[in-house]
Amino acid sequence: MRYQPLNNTFYKSTRAKLAKMLRPNSVAILNANDLMPTNADGTMKFRQNNDLFYLSGIDQEETILLICPDFPSETMREVLFVRETNEQVVVWEGHKLHQSEAAELSGVKTVRWTSEFDQVLQGILSHVDHVYLNTNEHRGASNEVESRDARFVKKLKEAYPLHRYERLAPLLGELRSIKAPDEIDQLQKACDITEKGFRRVLDFTKPGVKEYEIEAEYLHEFVRHGSRGFGYEPIVGSGANSCVLHYLENDQVCHSGDLILMDVGAEYGNYNADMTRTVPVNGRYTPRQREVYDAVLRVMRAAEKMLRPGVLLQDYHKEVGALVEAELIGLGLLDKRDVRKQDPANPLYRKYFMHGTSHPLGLDVHDVGSIYAPVKAGMVFTIEPGIYIREESIGIRLENNYVIGEKSNKDLMAEIPIEAEEIEGLMNQ
Ligand code: GLY
Ligand code: MN
Ligand code: MN
Repeated sequence: MRYQPLNNTFYKSTRAKLAKMLRPNSVAILNANDLMPTNADGTMKFRQNNDLFYLSGIDQEETILLICPDFPSETMREVLFVRETNEQVVVWEGHKLHQSEAAELSGVKTVRWTSEFDQVLQGILSHVDHVYLNTNEHRGASNEVESRDARFVKKLKEAYPLHRYERLAPLLGELRSIKAPDEIDQLQKACDITEKGFRRVLDFTKPGVKEYEIEAEYLHEFVRHGSRGFGYEPIVGSGANSCVLHYLENDQVCHSGDLILMDVGAEYGNYNADMTRTVPVNGRYTPRQREVYDAVLRVMRAAEKMLRPGVLLQDYHKEVGALVEAELIGLGLLDKRDVRKQDPANPLYRKYFMHGTSHPLGLDVHDVGSIYAPVKAGMVFTIEPGIYIREESIGIRLENNYVIGEKSNKDLMAEIPIEAEEIEGLMNQ
């Protein structure tokens, strides 16, 4: 295995927490993600379903988890199904989990082959009233491609129409939004690997390099440290591209005098870092770049103190918007009188800062959980203010990842250089 898996005590605890949230006489069933096809007989790299992973630690396709806390026979209260391995599978695909290995990783005592699932399910459904199924209810989800879970919902409702069906998504969103210390450790590793990539890139970057060469430097450092690669598609945008929020081409030459905005994070054990740094191609910020840079950094430092337990994200985003607005006036980009007359529903700062400041982070980069619930200790958020001045080809965003604590927040990226002087120093060594 490429990464150090969490101890199964973590997965036992997540299942126990979920079991407490279910109605009496219920079963919860979760499916693995599909191995996604590309073209012909090609497939993408496997990425486990995060909810199934959160409850089992099993990182293998075709896995099914069933949790039935009130079932009379104790051995059937948690059952894990993994795809049957045999000589043929070993020859073509290599090692797949044996039942004993799946039991050890997950802490689930009863592990069966997936081929036995239908029969076991029949026995369970003849007893329970409520069936909790998993659907992707993420606020930004595109559900055009039907998942294994979605197909299963259809199949089950047709075969067992009189059971009462319930949604797992809100329960898992609530559970997953508070991170356990074990999860924070994985996130810290993802951030540390991201730091290694960034330091390598500071050393590598100079006028004439291509954006994708920088991307390759990150990937090299990530993979050699046990990451499977980028947690999300990397953005490496120089010059005018630094102002393109979702720039993914990464195919231009970096020119002296320009900035490079790099929104890049490593995954580690399915947890993700989400970092943004903006550096000068030639190792020195111009005075104008530097004043915008320092404005963004000031907003970030202030926001770190504002994102605290009890805060509502909607209020926080407005307050950060007001800070950016003041900085934009200072930079000569907005006029105070115009700001006073602005439509509060459509503030002028939106021209230069058009995205949110923070999102939850974890197994998903834009992690699950209600964004309308107050912030709580144990949550992990990004803080990522930016100012994008297209007419000057200056796009600056800075992004770190924070654990919200009772007394103070912990910056998981505190060791990653961010002050302009430090970045210039490292680039000119
Ligand atoms: N990298 C995606 C984001 O910053 O939200
Ligand atoms: Mn990001
Ligand atoms: Mn982010």
